[in-house]
Amino acid sequence: MSFYKIEGGAALQGSIDVHGAKNAALPILAATILNNGISVIHNCPDLSDIESIITILRSLGCRVTRDGGLVTVDSSGFTSADIPLEFMKQTRSSTIFAGALLARTKRAFIAGSGGCCIGKRPIDLHLMGFKALGADVSFRPDGILCRAPHICPCKIHLDFPSVGATENLMLASSLTPGLTVISNAAKEPEICNLADYLRSIGVGIKGDGTSEIYIKGTCSPSDGEVTVIADRIVAATYAACVACAGGRVDVRGASPSLLSPVVATLRRMGMTIECRNDGFVVEKSSRCINLPYLCTGPYPALPTDCQPLIVAAMTTSYGFGAISEKIFENRMAHCKRLCDMGADISVSGRTAMVRGAERLHGAAVDASDLRCGAALVAAALGAEGTSFVSGVHYIDRGYENLCTALKSVGANIERIE
Ligand code: EPZ
Repeated sequence: MSFYKIEGGAALQGSIDVHGAKNAALPILAATILNNGISVIHNCPDLSDIESIITILRSLGCRVTRDGGLVTVDSSGFTSADIPLEFMKQTRSSTIFAGALLARTKRAFIAGSGGCCIGKRPIDLHLMGFKALGADVSFRPDGILCRAPHICPCKIHLDFPSVGATENLMLASSLTPGLTVISNAAKEPEICNLADYLRSIGVGIKGDGTSEIYIKGTCSPSDGEVTVIADRIVAATYAACVACAGGRVDVRGASPSLLSPVVATLRRMGMTIECRNDGFVVEKSSRCINLPYLCTGPYPALPTDCQPLIVAAMTTSYGFGAISEKIFENRMAHCKRLCDMGADISVSGRTAMVRGAERLHGAAVDASDLRCGAALVAAALGAEGTSFVSGVHYIDRGYENLCTALKSVGANIERIE
C-alpha cells in the first residue's frame, strides 16, 4: 500500500503548473461515443479515473490513443452498449456513460452507482430527466435499465442543480433534433467545457454556465475537438498547501476566475493572492484568521470539493470558525484525521467547528477519499515532525504526481511504494 512520508515545516517557494480537470475530462470522454468518429482531446489529465474511463471506452469498441495530454478517440468502432460488469463500479462509470449510451444506442444499463464514502450519490434526477425525454426506466435486482426507442426533446427542471444529471441530460439529448431545455441546471465550469466539446461535434448548445441550458441535438454529428480546462480543485489544493505550510507559490494554468469563491475565502483569512489571467500567486506572510461561518454550495458558491482543504487551512488559523457542508451528507472524514494531528475540531452533523491551534504535529493518517487525502497532505506540510499519509491511491484518482509537484516547490515529501 503506497503512502506519503512528509516532513513538515518547509515553506513552499516556486511555481506549479495545474493539469487538466478530472471532472471535465470524464464526461467529455464519455461523450466521445456520440459522434461515431474522431474526437481530439487536449490537456487531458493523466489520472487513474481517466485511465478507467479509457479502458471502458476500449471495452465498448472505441480506439483510444494517448500522447501525453493529447487523447484521440475513434468511436466508429463502437460495438457494445453494455459496460462490462467489472468496470461498472469504477468511478461510478455506468452513471457517467448513461446519457451518451442512451443517445447513441437508445439503451443504458446502470449498476454499481451505489454511492461512496462521502454520500449515497443518488441518481433520481438523472432518471427523472431520462423519463422526461421518453425513456422507460426499469429497476432490476442487478441495476437500472433505461430504454428510449424515441428520445423526445422537452423541458426538464432539476430540483437540485446536479452536475452529473445536467451532464447526462445534455448528452442524452445531443443526437435528437429539436429543443431540449434543462432548467435549474448546474453552472460549474466543467459543464461549459462539456458544452464546448458538444458544439464541436455539431450540437447546438446555448446557456451553459447559466441555470437554463438549451440543447438542439444533431442527427449527423461530426468529428470533434476540445481542450480540457484546468482543474480548479487542484489549483485550490495548492493554495491550501501554502495556507498550511507558508511561503509563496505561483499557481500556473488555472484562471483564478474558475475558483473565485476559494480566492475570496483565503483572502478573507489573510492570504495574499495576486491574480492574472492564467494563474495566481498565493502567499502566506502571517498567520491566517478563521472566519466565523462558511458553507459550501452549488457553483459559484464555495465548492464542496474544497471544503476539506479549507478545513485543513482553518486548523492553524487564529480563532474560531465554522464551515457547513451543504452538498454531500458524509464529507467530514478528514476532521477526525486532522484531530489526530492535533487539530481542535468538533463536528456536529454537516458542520465542522474549528479552533485554530498554534501548529499541528505529525501523525500516521489514512486518506478515506480523494479530497480528504489532499487535505491531510496539506496539513502535514505545515505540521511539526513527520507524517505518514496512506491511501495514496485515492489521491491518484484526482492528482497527477502530487508528490513531484510539491517537491518542486520545496516540500519535504516522498512517496513510499
Ligand atoms: C460531481 O459529482 C463531481 N464529480 C464531484 O466531484 C463534485 O463534488 C460534485 O459534482 C459537486 O460539485 C464528477 O464530476 C465526476 P451532483 P456529482 O450530482 O455529479 C444530490 C470529486 O472529488 N443528487 O452535483 O455526483 C447528491 O446526493 C468529486 O472530484 C441527488 O439528490 O454531484 C449530492 O448531495 C466528488 N440526486 C448533490 O446532489 C441526483 O440524481 C450533488 O450531486 C443527483 C445528485
